Amino acid sequence: MDKVSIAIDGPAGAGKSTIAKKIAEAKKILYIDTGAMYRAITLKLLNNNVSLKNNEVILETLESTGIEFKEGSIYLDGINVDQEIRRPEINKNVSEVAAIPCVRKVLVNIQRKIAENNSVIMDGRDIGTRVLPFAKYKFFLTASVDERAKRRYIELKKNGYEQSYEEVAEEISKRDKMDTERKLDPLRKAEDAILVDTTGKTIDEVIDTIIEKIDTI
Ligand code: DC
Repeated sequence: MDKVSIAIDGPAGAGKSTIAKKIAEAKKILYIDTGAMYRAITLKLLNNNVSLKNNEVILETLESTGIEFKEGSIYLDGINVDQEIRRPEINKNVSEVAAIPCVRKVLVNIQRKIAENNSVIMDGRDIGTRVLPFAKYKFFLTASVDERAKRRYIELKKNGYEQSYEEVAEEISKRDKMDTERKLDPLRKAEDAILVDTTGKTIDEVIDTIIEKIDTI
């Protein structure tokens, strides 16, 4: 059977991962959270005290790093880092890491290989525009900054991180700016992607909207 790809792009907190995970379960396809891959590399670079300006060492680090998904969890060099990659310190640095050309090149190659071998739903910023431009289905999820910041604030609190709502909102706006204004593969809606505004919508409502469009799988 031919592999089917579903691309989900959008800014932080738009609900991409929650929704993509549920659709993957419903359709029995693989879910790949590409943001988690950028976060895992960020964690490794920070742990190793690598300067984000030192391209040579960054490349060496990439070459000697293993990133894998197993049963919905992300493993960095064989260790489950699901929790660690959500730390505020990672939130603060990940956009800078994601703008480094060699980081993008290596991760995009891994992502394309996964989609060649599996039917996938992949979420990120450049899936419909860069990673899988020929994806059969493309969606661009958005929500107001206020709603996205509220969702992230609740998520952080649930995981035991104390950050004020104002701080989270400021960080989200800052990340939006960096992600949309970076030179290489910035966050933007692919021309053929379907726009879904999740502001004020429940998860189930958004899932229904998307499932309706992909019912051919
Ligand atoms: O989706 P997220 O918030 O976990 O993503 C973390 C960061 O990684 C975000 O600031 C943008 C970047 N990213 C990217 O540049 N390209 C992707 N395909 C996925 C994420």
